[in-house]
Amino acid sequence: QQIQWFPGHMAKTIREIGEQMKLVDFSLEIVDARAPESTQNPQIMDSISVKPVFLILNKIDLADARQVHKFVAANKDKFAGILTTDAKMGLLSKDFLRQLKTNPVYAKMVENKKAASLKALVVGTPNVGKSTFINHLAGKNIARTANTPGVTRFLYWIRTKYDLDFLDTPGLLWPKFENQEIGTKIGILGGIKDTLLAPDDLALWLISFIQKNYPTVIATRYKISHFPLDNPIAALMSITSQLGMRQDFEKASLKIINDFRSGKFGQISLDFYGDDYIEN
Ligand code: G4P
Repeated sequence: QQIQWFPGHMAKTIREIGEQMKLVDFSLEIVDARAPESTQNPQIMDSISVKPVFLILNKIDLADARQVHKFVAANKDKFAGILTTDAKMGLLSKDFLRQLKTNPVYAKMVENKKAASLKALVVGTPNVGKSTFINHLAGKNIARTANTPGVTRFLYWIRTKYDLDFLDTPGLLWPKFENQEIGTKIGILGGIKDTLLAPDDLALWLISFIQKNYPTVIATRYKISHFPLDNPIAALMSITSQLGMRQDFEKASLKIINDFRSGKFGQISLDFYGDDYIEN
């Protein structure tokens, strides 16, 4: 399946979601905690903010706690609550429900609820972990998990093991593409099909970004001691040969990107807040 970024298609998806808002009590927007701004959907907020919106920073295990903290401080007034989750962790349900239940907006909804369970619309751009999150709470493999952006196609209801029903939305929601840097970050985080991207461009950007903002990480990971820190191309060449991949820079690039995605570099954020960020 190709992702289609036609404006008409986007408008239709947003409109359909807007129409469902009367069926739910609140929304959960799931983003990648490593880039909580870049992985938001830029247009959904207008449609869903007619009811309380909780932002879920998923993959919290992979994010830089300092940047998460700064993001939460700067954005907490924009949402009914900002929650943090690790959807791969066995304790997800307990941890997530604890955060929800201690939230005053949520507590009020529980107090006033008319039906047996509260209903939530769940939105998220590709690869932020929405299926993993839903599967955990539903307890069955209802939402299809796949690393292919755009797999879930229709809105459908999912009953969880708790007093919560989810209305899942298509993985066809697009993240922000305001500028090339955001597009690159989304690519690195797996939100765009890999086949649509040039892996060496992503890897070079990532090497440069990590070198500037987390200086020891690349050298340690690939056991490289001598390469010019300000020269990502030289770094990619060194890493490629260190990995025994000869001149296959594309293969090495994919390895670097996958290492980042799965947290092999440690906890690294791509969206930075305040004066920490060293521009790439
Ligand atoms: P989506 O529906 O939003 O598109 O995402 P999906 O659940 O398919 O998750 C995308 C990838 O992110 C999966 O990895 C999933 O395991 C991983 N993931 C989801 N939530 C978390 C989290 O909180 N922490 C970490 N570390 N990873 C998370 P995958 O490589 O596609 O599959 P696999 O590694 O699970 O086999």
